[in-house]
Amino acid sequence: MSKYRFKNSSIYIGDSDLPHNKLSITDPLELHAIENELLIQAYELFYHRIDEHTVFDEQYFITLHKATFSSLYEWAGEYRSTLDMTKGDSRFCLAHYLHDASKKIFDELSHDNDLRRGNELPKEHFAKKLAYYKCELIALHPFYELNGRITRMFFDMIAAYNGYKFIDYSLITPEAYINASIECVQFADCGKMEKIILEGLHQA
Ligand SMILES: Nc1ncnc2c1ncn2[C@@H]1O[C@H](COP(=O)(O)OP(=O)(O)OP(=O)(O)O)[C@@H](O)[C@H]1O
Ligand SMILES: [Mg+2]
Repeated sequence: MSKYRFKNSSIYIGDSDLPHNKLSITDPLELHAIENELLIQAYELFYHRIDEHTVFDEQYFITLHKATFSSLYEWAGEYRSTLDMTKGDSRFCLAHYLHDASKKIFDELSHDNDLRRGNELPKEHFAKKLAYYKCELIALHPFYELNGRITRMFFDMIAAYNGYKFIDYSLITPEAYINASIECVQFADCGKMEKIILEGLHQA
């Protein structure tokens, strides 16, 4: 059964949770391997592109998704237009409000100087800010798929800009990460995500 409850979704192949893709791959392991390879290449590319002019705005966030996955998916870099999505008991931002909600998050981020001065903050304070915006984007869930990976990549690039390594999530279980996400989406509580980020944030 699909992980999602979609109405009339043409994103997935039949009843599966495998997205239609440009390479016509139907083997989940093969598709996952290619997604991973594309993600690794994109990390290299975007990491080396970071300079003092880099702005972590909505366009940058969308570009991460598009540049990483456009060779595989038609909908790379596209927000889900009319599709409301849930996972478990969590309901993500309604498609109808997606653009306004996204604008609000990125306006706030912009007033926070795109978190480009995180290196001037104590680490705990920077982690708190990263967690706050990350929870907002988790609840937004703007893309059809790959939201988790692109959202992590977005904050990894912000961490790198500020002299930190990519955030290390290897010490926490997938369940703990989902539970932290559930608190973000259902209770607007980023406390668990803040703890995860603080533990995974280390100076480069
Ligand atoms: N039950 C849930 N409640 C709230 N948020 C959830 C739930 N399950 C997953 N999420 C969030 O959705 C993200 C997954 O979204 P999506 O499947 O679009 O991207 P992904 O790149 O495949 O994710 P991942 O690599 O994290 O599994 C997770 O990273 C998590 O933050
Ligand atoms: Mg997924």
